[in-house]
Amino acid sequence: MNEQTGTPSWWEPEALAFRQRVLEEIEGLSPPELAALAERLNREQEEFLAGRALCLYPGANRMSPRVRALLASSAATRASEGHPGAKYQTGLRWMEEAEVLAVGLIRRLFDAPYAEVRALSGSMANMAVLNGLTEPGDVIFSLSTPVGAHISHQRVGAAGYRRLDIHTIPYDVENWEIDLEALRREVRASPPRLIILGASLILFPYPVREVREIADEVGAVVLYDAAHVAGLIAGGVWQHPLREGAHVMTASTYKSFGGPPGGIVLTADEDIARRVDRAIFPGLTANFHTNRLPALAVAAAEMLAFGSRYARDCVANAQVLATAFQEEGLVVAGAEKGCTAGHMLALDVRGNGGGRAAATALEAAHIICNMNLLPWDSPKSVRDPGGVRLAVHEVTRWGMGPEAMKEIARLFRAVLVERRPPAEVRQRVIALKARFDTLQYCFPVDENSGGEYI
Ligand SMILES: Cc1ncc(COP(=O)(O)O)c(C=O)c1O
Repeated sequence: MNEQTGTPSWWEPEALAFRQRVLEEIEGLSPPELAALAERLNREQEEFLAGRALCLYPGANRMSPRVRALLASSAATRASEGHPGAKYQTGLRWMEEAEVLAVGLIRRLFDAPYAEVRALSGSMANMAVLNGLTEPGDVIFSLSTPVGAHISHQRVGAAGYRRLDIHTIPYDVENWEIDLEALRREVRASPPRLIILGASLILFPYPVREVREIADEVGAVVLYDAAHVAGLIAGGVWQHPLREGAHVMTASTYKSFGGPPGGIVLTADEDIARRVDRAIFPGLTANFHTNRLPALAVAAAEMLAFGSRYARDCVANAQVLATAFQEEGLVVAGAEKGCTAGHMLALDVRGNGGGRAAATALEAAHIICNMNLLPWDSPKSVRDPGGVRLAVHEVTRWGMGPEAMKEIARLFRAVLVERRPPAEVRQRVIALKARFDTLQYCFPVDENSGGEYI
């Protein structure tokens, strides 16, 4: 780092150039101008995401209006340490009640005895489980990155920070399946403390029962990371990890679940719950952004009311989109297995210029998804992988159905196969989006709802 300019020399060249441009732009602006700039950036981002883009990035969603309104609460900046009803701080009675409410709703939605809702993110939920249930040096097994493992399962993320000895779950790439016999052998040879299932590329369910049986041989805990599929589980269309034998499940609350940012941990095991509770506080949080909990409670209530229809519509849309992609000449990864069992899809774009070029061209047309490793890719090709990953939950929330899915496939064809000019495709994207301007599967905005702040 240059100590005078603070230039982070380890950044990528394009990141350095971007940073430099912004710093030059703000040079000499007065404080009110700087504040106005920040507000304008926020407004323009919002207008883009809500009105001019097709958001198909799997790790994102749009919160309902009532959930969003609650996030503006001043409770955000109140530390709330300890258990509701016995906090270290005083004056937060209403938020303490909201905390119990959020926990109760999440327990009910996921049919889980214990729910931890204070983690600020899915990564932190994973970290809480790892900190609570493992010791540095313990063996864990997780999937490889090309097969979809999240960084928090890996050396560079939470698992590495916990100094765990990370082994890779053997995987049959051709059949998109865990190689259970090889896993059994490797687990016997190096007994783990924990086995992590679940991934960022999650197209098909995992053999949770079989993995639990293998884990039981050596007394290992099975963690199912449902970051992406929490909305599908809540809606009853995806395997239920705890019912199938996972000891503990983590998830993000803002991806398919559609709630505020945050992470949850669910378990039926009292000892695991106690350890995770301690890992969250005093381990990882003091102020856990208390405003998130009334918002999470509203999102969970919306899920209780509309979740099963939402989840069913997501899966139906993903099926239509997969077929339409194939009809438009695109290669859907995992096609031989039915493309997907959930809301996510992966395109094999090796024949369309590769993942980086494809995601960039799609962005130029206002179609947002991400380049992604596919199971057969080398982990080293992470900056130009063979795939593009996308999911339909956000466009489903905007009310898009089968006809819109077919138009989305035609738009992908226009960008990736026909290589039409981005400006032309962009106009079609904006026209499509304009037909869907009201978020579905949520409660109507009501002036008396308590979502407005004075
Ligand atoms: C499988 C998986 N686990 C955990 C996370 C982390 O979630 P968060 O963004 O809430 O930290 C992700 C995020 O994308 C993920 O894909």
